[in-house]
Amino acid sequence: KVLILDFGGQYAQLIARRVRECSVYSVIRPYDTPLEELKALEPTGIIFSGGPASVYAEDAPGIDPGIFNMGVPILGICYGMQIMAHTLGGKVQRAEHREYGKAELTVVDQRGIFADLGPELVVWMSHGDYVLELPKGFVVTAKTDNTPNAAMADHERKFYGVQFHPEVVHTPQGMDLIRNFVFEVCGCKGDWTASNFIEEKVKEIKEQVGNAKVICGLSGGVDSAVAATLVHKAIGDQLTCIFVNHGFLRQGEAEQVRKTFKEQFDMNLVYVDASERFINLLAGVTEPEEKRKRIGNEFVRIFEEEAAKIGDARYLVQGTLYSDVIESGTKEAAKIKTHHNVGGLPEDMEFELIEPLRNLFKDEVRAIGKALGLPDEIVWRQPFPGPGLAIRIIGEVTRENLEILRKADAIVNQEIRAAGLNKDIWQSFAILPANLRSVGVMGDERTYAYPIVIRAVKSEDAMTADWVRLPYEVLERISTRITNEVEHVNRVVYDITSKPPATIEWE
Ligand code: XMP
Repeated sequence: KVLILDFGGQYAQLIARRVRECSVYSVIRPYDTPLEELKALEPTGIIFSGGPASVYAEDAPGIDPGIFNMGVPILGICYGMQIMAHTLGGKVQRAEHREYGKAELTVVDQRGIFADLGPELVVWMSHGDYVLELPKGFVVTAKTDNTPNAAMADHERKFYGVQFHPEVVHTPQGMDLIRNFVFEVCGCKGDWTASNFIEEKVKEIKEQVGNAKVICGLSGGVDSAVAATLVHKAIGDQLTCIFVNHGFLRQGEAEQVRKTFKEQFDMNLVYVDASERFINLLAGVTEPEEKRKRIGNEFVRIFEEEAAKIGDARYLVQGTLYSDVIESGTKEAAKIKTHHNVGGLPEDMEFELIEPLRNLFKDEVRAIGKALGLPDEIVWRQPFPGPGLAIRIIGEVTRENLEILRKADAIVNQEIRAAGLNKDIWQSFAILPANLRSVGVMGDERTYAYPIVIRAVKSEDAMTADWVRLPYEVLERISTRITNEVEHVNRVVYDITSKPPATIEWE
């Protein structure tokens, strides 16, 4: 088994899933777990994750030096490499230029983790510090133009460090590197499969729930559908699913979700139209986190009301994924935004949570959905945030703004589908910056109206993303149609930012 030490990067779980992809069991522990506990896990390999800190910061997460005497191979990634260098007597320094995004890596020592990867790799960098001097016993194994010590190794003790992120898809050969570490360096076998995940979870849920009643918030997306199906498999009719229409859904979505779930599932389903409640709740609210909190709270209040009608529903099932958890902030990781099904929950909530997908990533959830027999239209649906269009309107959410955004969003996706591009795209949508207007001219008249932002990204797990190179013709059609068909819009722009440094959503 491989032990991953979490230094608070956005990437620790991503590393864990890469190891799972090798069919090797992995566990994550916080960086400050006592050494004895780590030893008791008897890992065959250890990976230090990245992290947001600088090794010289006052409260920088440190590491018990004893870990280097365990005789176990260690791979340090980004901050993990820096803390390895720092602890073993090397020198880490703040870089003059922070390095984000793609970099060309030249491998100068192809042993160990770089075996068979070739002399040149494209890698993904995201760091502000770098290793200036290597600790004793280490050699440089790779460099980039900006970072002379982009990777290091002590082949003798099997300690490896890389400044870049092999776990993200933007490092195309990153998986090969991780495989090298897991199989060649650590000698793991690769006989752990995810198929027993379902069995494991069904058993766990049965034990947790007993005879109690359970409700599940259904959104129509793959996460909540998979969570609901797992729980249904475990406890059958003790489960009631609740589909809340908060009024921030896309064009035609409410009807479509109800139809799909009625046709596909033999589950208790309650539909609640709460759009009036939610729009009133957001009157005058413009701060993104405030929007998310209010929406999350109100969802739970509605679930509580529905639970009371059913009688004694103690548990609430949510399709929370790891990316939701990590971005909402954990002890180690900085808070990026409060995902409405995690940090947006009220403190006085009466439910106990069941979140069977909490440690998984989207594509792992899709694989489980497939294994559970869910139809493709659910398994392959684009992710849609819980707070819906409310966080795609920058500024105040009003009925009028919602109408504008809904129409523009429908056009974006109609044209992308018409061009046959939807299957390659992780998410595509429109954003309405309702706090911004610009001057235009239409039929010899001056206009002063909103822009619409188009966003289309590729991603594997939402942790990182790249903008899609949409063909100009498609962009042109979208632009022409939006400015012609959607009132109050006189300009269309395309968001060409990857994540990081941006996020997928604008709020
Ligand atoms: P960001 O904007 O953080 O989004 O790059 C990452 C992924 O998460 C989705 N998202 C959410 N999903 N509740 C959800 O269930 C939320 O509050 C939420 N906020 C963002 C987003 O659409 C993207 O797929």
